[in-house]
Amino acid sequence: MKTLSCEFSRPLLASLMLLLLTPATGLGQTTTGQSVVWDAMSKRYDAQKGETNALFTFGVTNISPAEVVVNAVRTSCGCTIAKVPPLPWRLPPGAHGQIEVKVDLRGKFGLLSKIVSVDTSAGLSLLTVNVNIPQPDGRELNRMLAQADRQAVFRNDCANCHAHPSAGKSGEPLFKAVCGICHEAEHRATMVPDLKTLKKPTDRNYWDNWMRYGKPGTLMPAFAKIAGGPLDDLQIESLVTFLTDHFRPARSSDFGDPFAETSGSGL
Ligand code: HEC
Ligand code: HEC
Repeated sequence: MKTLSCEFSRPLLASLMLLLLTPATGLGQTTTGQSVVWDAMSKRYDAQKGETNALFTFGVTNISPAEVVVNAVRTSCGCTIAKVPPLPWRLPPGAHGQIEVKVDLRGKFGLLSKIVSVDTSAGLSLLTVNVNIPQPDGRELNRMLAQADRQAVFRNDCANCHAHPSAGKSGEPLFKAVCGICHEAEHRATMVPDLKTLKKPTDRNYWDNWMRYGKPGTLMPAFAKIAGGPLDDLQIESLVTFLTDHFRPARSSDFGDPFAETSGSGL
């Protein structure tokens, strides 16, 4: 048995060694010989806290005497986008070109590695982009979760602070519990507007709409039960009444023609 296993493992070992000894595809090489050369097969970026995108540029040169055609460029996830000239992209002999790669960092941290495969008439090139994304703190993490899905505040652990305190409340106490938590926070985040100093006229409709449906694409969630929020119609009405009575930064007439500016900074 021993000799047998030895006989089998020797060629395996040899091929493993060969693999190890073969220089890794690195600078100036492609996986398919030498028709095209890239300025690098792999690039790395160390992102700063709060950065939402990482941008890479890969340069390619056709060093062969024949035209090389790039037929397809694929990325390993929806978060990575490659920008290339219109396909099929023809690179005459000696021509140089660029591929831009954009990685969406939102909602991610740690070491991110994405592959861009470039399918050419001379074979496949696999480009790797690596991004090191710093670990966010608790509040940032919450924000990231909410950026991906603004209704996340009403689910799981988030609900303990953002939804459950609404139970059995109405009017001002309800406002303090579910709106004030963001809008009146001592260290209010910059993207959360101060509702007491809005520079626009407000009415029942305004409050009702914002509360019920929030605003997609922002951190302002939809509070209506039918929209996935924690508040029933009576609670929403009690808030509308409270807000129209108490949150009047100025009379509408102070704004001149209310139709002159239909959307403010937040809209
Ligand atoms: C222990 C209570 C608590 C929990 C749990 C909680 N939050 Fe918050 N959240 C707050 C408070 C308080 C604020 C106001 C800002 C501050 O003081 O940090 C806030 C503010 C926010 C904001 C506004 C932006 C900002 O940074 O101020 C978002 C978005 C948010 N939370 C999302 C979430 C999400 C998503 C979860 C669950 C993953 C969550 N929160 C869990 C208490 C909580
Ligand atoms: C998780 C944090 C959070 C909570 C909780 C929250 N808001 Fe907001 N709200 C925001 C953010 C962020 C915006 C800014 C949206 C944008 O970018 O336009 C906003 C915008 C608004 C606006 C629009 C202001 C403008 O510029 O015209 C109104 C009105 C509003 N919120 C009311 C409320 C009310 C009422 C509640 C409670 C029922 C509430 N919000 C709860 C985060 C929150």
